[in-house]
This record gives sequence, C-alpha cells and structure tokens, in this order.
Amino acid sequence: MTTSTQDSAPEDREATAEDFNSGFRKLNDESETRRGGPEPEQIKGAISEIYNGVASWSAKGDFWNWGLHDEEVLAEIDSLLPGCCQHDTDGLSEQLYYQALRAVPIPVDGYAGKSVLEVGCGLGEGLNFASRLVNASEIVGMDLSQAAIDRANARLSRGEQLRFAQGDAESLPFPDSTFDVVLNVESSHNYPDLGGFLREAARVLKPGGYLSHVDLFTEQSNAHLVQLKQEDSELDWIEEIDITERVRAAIRKRLEPGSFYRQNFSAKKLPLKTRIMMGSGGSHLAGADFVGHRDLLDRVLEATRIRPKRIQTEYHSYRHNVARKKA
Ligand SMILES: C[S@@+](CC[C@H](N)C(=O)[O-])C[C@H]1O[C@@H](n2cnc3c(N)ncnc32)[C@H](O)[C@@H]1O
Repeated sequence: MTTSTQDSAPEDREATAEDFNSGFRKLNDESETRRGGPEPEQIKGAISEIYNGVASWSAKGDFWNWGLHDEEVLAEIDSLLPGCCQHDTDGLSEQLYYQALRAVPIPVDGYAGKSVLEVGCGLGEGLNFASRLVNASEIVGMDLSQAAIDRANARLSRGEQLRFAQGDAESLPFPDSTFDVVLNVESSHNYPDLGGFLREAARVLKPGGYLSHVDLFTEQSNAHLVQLKQEDSELDWIEEIDITERVRAAIRKRLEPGSFYRQNFSAKKLPLKTRIMMGSGGSHLAGADFVGHRDLLDRVLEATRIRPKRIQTEYHSYRHNVARKKA
C-alpha cells in the first residue's frame, strides 16, 4: 500500500465516487493489515478520500451519521423549531445533534457572545441545524475532507456566524483558548490518535469550556477512552451516557422498507462498484452492521467474498461523553 496524504484525492480536481472506493480499499488493504495496520498518515489519506467521495454524491440536507431516536428529544426539538424534523428529513440525525447539545450545561438561549467549534463536521448540516438552536456569536465547522468543507462553505456559511475550515482533529488550526464549546459527532473513531485529539480539544477550549463527544466504540477503543479519561489532563469528565439503544432505534428506522433514507438513497445514481462497497441499499452507511442487519444482496456479496471484510462489525456501543476544561 502506497497511500499517503500525497496520494489522497488531489484538491485541484472534483472529488468523485471513485475516491470512496479507493479510500475504502486502502483501509482494508490486507497486506497492510498483515504488517500491523496502516500508518496514521495513510489512514488519514484514505479517510480523506472516502469522505471526498461521499461529498461528491451527497445531496442537499444530507447528514453523515447514524442518527438517534428518542421521542422526548424529538419533542424538545419540536418545541424549539416546530416541524423542523418533518420536512425533507427523517429527523434522526437532528436528534443526534440535539443530544450532543442538550448535555452541555449551557441553555440553548445562553450562547450569546459564545463560540462553538465542531471537529469532523462533514457537510456541515448538523452544525447548521445546531446554529438554528443556539444563539452563538461564532460557529465554526472543521473537517479533514476538503470536498466536504468546500460544499459546506458554498451552501451554508454565513460570515462569522457559521463558517467552515479544513483541518486535522489531531492538529487543530486554531489558537489556544478560542472556543466555549467543542462538538464532536461520530468522527473520532477515524482518528489514529484519540488522545492527541482530546489534548487539542482541551487546548482550543477556553477555561471552563465544554467538549461534547458523541461516537461509536469497540470494546478496545472504549477501554482506551476510559484510560485517557483517568489520565491527568486539562479536562474534567462530567457526564457519560450510553446512547447505544437510541442510536440502534434510529438505524432500524432507516433500514425499514420505504423509509425516508431508503427512498432518498435509492434515488441516487451511483456507480455499481460504489453501491457494492457501501451496502446495496446504502445499508452499510446507515449502520446496518451495528444492528446486525444485512440486505439480501449484501449477504450474497459477503458470502462470495466479493466485498472486503467490514471493519464496523466490531462496534458494540455508542456513547456520549461530556468534559469541562479546568478553569
Ligand atoms: C461519519 S462522518 C460525521 C460527519 C458529521 N459529524 C455528521 O454527523 O454528519 C465523520 C467525519 O469525520 C471526518 N474526519 C475523519 N477523520 C478526521 C480528522 N482526522 N480530522 C478531522 N475530521 C476528520 C470525516 O472527514 C467525516 O466528515
């Protein structure tokens, strides 16, 4: 495997669906696995290609997470933004973002003068939704994928109030003590060095600021986070919520025949190769492995080994952790 940041999708050309295939292949390269796994920069190069590819086919309004389903959360959103989860969305990703916000001990109307950063913002749709809930003065989204950032800026930016920048979670392109809140939604499982990201999040937070971290975990990665939380750092961990079942409820809704997700995804004209990589009906991206679901075609592809082994099968929980930077 020769992947590196140099051979990831060049930024002076349009990202394509083939970037997704290329990045996916590199992450699953068997020769690298035999050597003990790809190097951190190779992983980032492949991840960047994957998400550049996803950005190339994503439609307006798309989120890139598995969502969450909870009637209480939905009702709270509806009281703040009536009907917003009923039009051109299944509302499940919005619920995941609201979960990330509601555990931060700042009321949604208490953000005046405050600044918010999302690390790993994808297309920026989640942050755009969050920007409608909180009255923050400055909201910044950052992502490794240049194609995602370009689209987010083109579609959603609103000056200081909401803007997007390319960067790496392990080396945040912001000065010390800049933000009151750092959000991180379903992104950190991609980072080769989770501890490096937590140190960076602490660095860019103002004293007393909050990190809201939402992600999926293997047993091993959760044990690693538990260890990191015990280490002496600038962060005090103030809350941990296991949201596994509520995330699974959202995934099952998306996988139902005729769901908003199924209808919306099937309308997209992707190359066959790409569809095979991501689950015939987009089920892989929707989190099918996490609920043990396989579409019929996917079962055939796996049995015949047409598609490389999935990495997602090891994930066993989805957790929400909140930390406060020491004053
Ligand atoms: C599953 S998507 C989630 C996107 C968004 N938070 C959402 O929920 O819609 C994961 C995102 O993390 C980003 N990412 C992965 N590794 C990263 C890194 N090292 N630095 C910044 N972003 C990264 C990917 O490019 C991708 O946009």
